[in-house]
Amino acid sequence: MNMDRFLWGAATSAHQVEGNQENNWSRWEKTHAPEWMRRAVRMYRNLPHWDRIKTEVQDSENYISGTAADHYHRYREDFELLKSFGLNSYRFSIEWSRIEPRKGVFNADALRHYRDVLETLHELRITPFVTLHHFTEPVWLEETGGWTSKAFPALFDRYVAYVVEGLTDLVQLWMTFNEPESYLLSRYLNSPLWPGWPYQEQNYRKYLRANHGFVEAHKQAYKTIKRINPNGKVGYGHGIVCFEPGNRWSRPVVSWLEHTGGTGKFKKTIGYQDYLGLQYYLRNTVSIKPRSFRQWAEMIDSNNTSDIGWEPYPAGLYQITQRLKRYKLPIYVTENGIADSRDEQRGEFIRSHAAAMMRSIRDGADIRGYFYWSLLDNYEWSSGFWPRFGLVAVDYSTLERWPRPSAKVYREIAQNYSFPNS
Ligand code: BGC
Repeated sequence: MNMDRFLWGAATSAHQVEGNQENNWSRWEKTHAPEWMRRAVRMYRNLPHWDRIKTEVQDSENYISGTAADHYHRYREDFELLKSFGLNSYRFSIEWSRIEPRKGVFNADALRHYRDVLETLHELRITPFVTLHHFTEPVWLEETGGWTSKAFPALFDRYVAYVVEGLTDLVQLWMTFNEPESYLLSRYLNSPLWPGWPYQEQNYRKYLRANHGFVEAHKQAYKTIKRINPNGKVGYGHGIVCFEPGNRWSRPVVSWLEHTGGTGKFKKTIGYQDYLGLQYYLRNTVSIKPRSFRQWAEMIDSNNTSDIGWEPYPAGLYQITQRLKRYKLPIYVTENGIADSRDEQRGEFIRSHAAAMMRSIRDGADIRGYFYWSLLDNYEWSSGFWPRFGLVAVDYSTLERWPRPSAKVYREIAQNYSFPNS
């Protein structure tokens, strides 16, 4: 097993931690927070720990990103924490709406900010992994038709070229899109995963057009990044759920889901990816019954779930990475994490997933890095601030940071495998 350049890291995204955004999500939050709050109450009130979370869930202010974790100003402190956990890499995203607040108008100060961020990472010997689109985008893009517009690939490419030209000396690992499929399903097919997605609608034709827009945008951006930075590694991240049949009737459905929505997703961009980004969180048991996806009901009954009812299933990480071997590309686990405000499960979550990953590496999966989601507690989209994914707890009233005990567990894991570049 070649572990020479293995990256042990943690991830965040701009909108979820930076604070003070002016983008499609921040606009949407302002008008939709009360509705999200009511939905969250309906969705989570049957969880066994409802009493513990209900105050936060019932506060509509919790659904507005506001200053978030103020990472925009406190990034050095956050990187020092990451370093103190013995980690050697950080994945974060650049906010398109800061770089290009108006169509065709680029903000050199915003670019300078991200240069400062990257220089700080280098000073601390932390390898950056940069995402160019993590769910949010400038409001003006929506007005041009977003991903369904014929102009989308060129607009994305122009933004990418500006960023990559400005930062190329500081970044080798680029991710064009974070979970494009989650975006497409939530935005155009009203997926229940993120029910409050901005401008959400149910329109299959638009879904197909936007899907085409994503593929073209990724391909163009891939070529642009390689032109500017030929040694750079470019790919994107897919969220993949481990689907398992709940009864024998559901086996064909599970194979179909695996084919279309699982590891088969990466087929769309063959030849335009230097690595595969895998974002893995949970298992879904599928049963052919009137209520075909038993997701919430099943998980709420189980004792072994996260605060938001997701079922951790480390074996799924093994299975999925084994299936990804067929692409013959390096794999980065670009997200894997748990919402666990009391930090009761997180240590074991990381340990068991790291063990599954190591087993997969021994069985031939070319995994080059693992990024825990998330470095900090953050804004969990339309679920607001109450789900706590962080290795570091954030007190949102004072913005103080408190490393959770599980960060020590992660530190031990990362140190057990000592790598030359860490
Ligand atoms: C997304 C993150 C999100 C996490 C937990 C991932 O799919 O990329 O932005 O916070 O899931 O829901």
